[in-house]
Amino acid sequence: MSDFKDEVMKMKFSTRIQQMQESPVRKLVPYAQRAKANGKHVYHLNIGQPDIETPSVFMDAINDYDSKIIKYSFSQGEPTLITAIQKYFARDDIFFEHDEILITNGGSEAVTFATIAMCDPGDEILVPEPFYTNYNGFTGEVNVNIKPITTVAEEGFHLPPQKEIEALITPKTKAILFSNPGNPTGTVLTKEEMLMIADIAIKHDLFIISDEVYRGFAFDGLEGISMGTIKSVSDRTLIIESVSKRYSACGARIGSIASKNKELMKQILKLCQARLCVATLEQIGAAALYQLPTEYTESIRAEYEARRDIVYETLNQIPGVVCEKPTGAFYVVAKLPVANAEEFIIWMLTEFSDHNETVMMAPAEGFYATKGIGIDEVRIAYVLNTKEMARAMELLKIALEEYNKN
Ligand SMILES: Cc1ncc(COP(=O)(O)O)c(C=O)c1O
Repeated sequence: MSDFKDEVMKMKFSTRIQQMQESPVRKLVPYAQRAKANGKHVYHLNIGQPDIETPSVFMDAINDYDSKIIKYSFSQGEPTLITAIQKYFARDDIFFEHDEILITNGGSEAVTFATIAMCDPGDEILVPEPFYTNYNGFTGEVNVNIKPITTVAEEGFHLPPQKEIEALITPKTKAILFSNPGNPTGTVLTKEEMLMIADIAIKHDLFIISDEVYRGFAFDGLEGISMGTIKSVSDRTLIIESVSKRYSACGARIGSIASKNKELMKQILKLCQARLCVATLEQIGAAALYQLPTEYTESIRAEYEARRDIVYETLNQIPGVVCEKPTGAFYVVAKLPVANAEEFIIWMLTEFSDHNETVMMAPAEGFYATKGIGIDEVRIAYVLNTKEMARAMELLKIALEEYNKN
């Protein structure tokens, strides 16, 4: 009789899947679950899941949707949503025609589709590091390699000089991908940096994938401009959008791709057709979100700025912590006075508590492609209200004191 276990053991997994890393944002979750099962309160600063209520217009629009059948939507996306996104961009004098926008399953699918359309297996994409860790997944699953442009905390994670970036370009380099404002850094690119990216792209014939899912969340009076405003590269720029963060609708899974390069859009449409469509009802809800006035985004931006202030001020008061003031999104990367941030996070979840409370952060190492850097860094997502953030930062301070006593 055959032994089922042995048969399973004979099966082989692809090299591609085995090389894929576990999400640094989620891999420590079992420790948090155990802490919670033991009655400990855990402040979750490890994941970019905002606590802000999704605007009620989302559910209202879905409830008002009048159809007896939930049909497939168009592969390109629901026309009402595309129109709403066109108008959203037009507020900043960025004009896309209807066929220059495609709706995707979140910004995630948008990055994957862009990668597939621009790269063959073995090709390379330049990405400033630390970067949104799932870029590894979106590119790795189609055998495309990320070539990191290393940026450092001491320089506020701004880009190195053009020459250093150009030195990384090979015949296999097809695109440059970045999020602006940045996850995990919270860095907002300056106009000069964006023009430098444009110059590099033109000189070396690269595509630009501008991930703007945090656009609008820029602080200290910074504008946080879209790559769509840089006309010299509009034919090689592809913008990634999403309702996840801007409208606190992560579970809706609605994102989009916008590009003036119609041929590129025609190619990506084939990928959209191959996965049929994006969920119909969520697109209806998302169309209502994109019609919210700018005051809505402004109020959310102000809330994140207040949280940023608390986090940054407290972090700066903790001896040995290094962090530059982030100017956008809702993250900060901080160097901690510990040898290994992941071990410290696990210790906080398993051994530490103050009044039966603790904090969970994400180890930043997994946000780098270069091995050996970021080991003493954490990413903090300020996704809780100001009172809770203040308490979470107090807990971090107490925990570091206790950890470094031993
Ligand atoms: C920079 C960046 N891009 C894309 C995404 C994916 O977002 P979505 O929920 O739209 O797939 C995220 C999510 O955290 C992100 O931080």
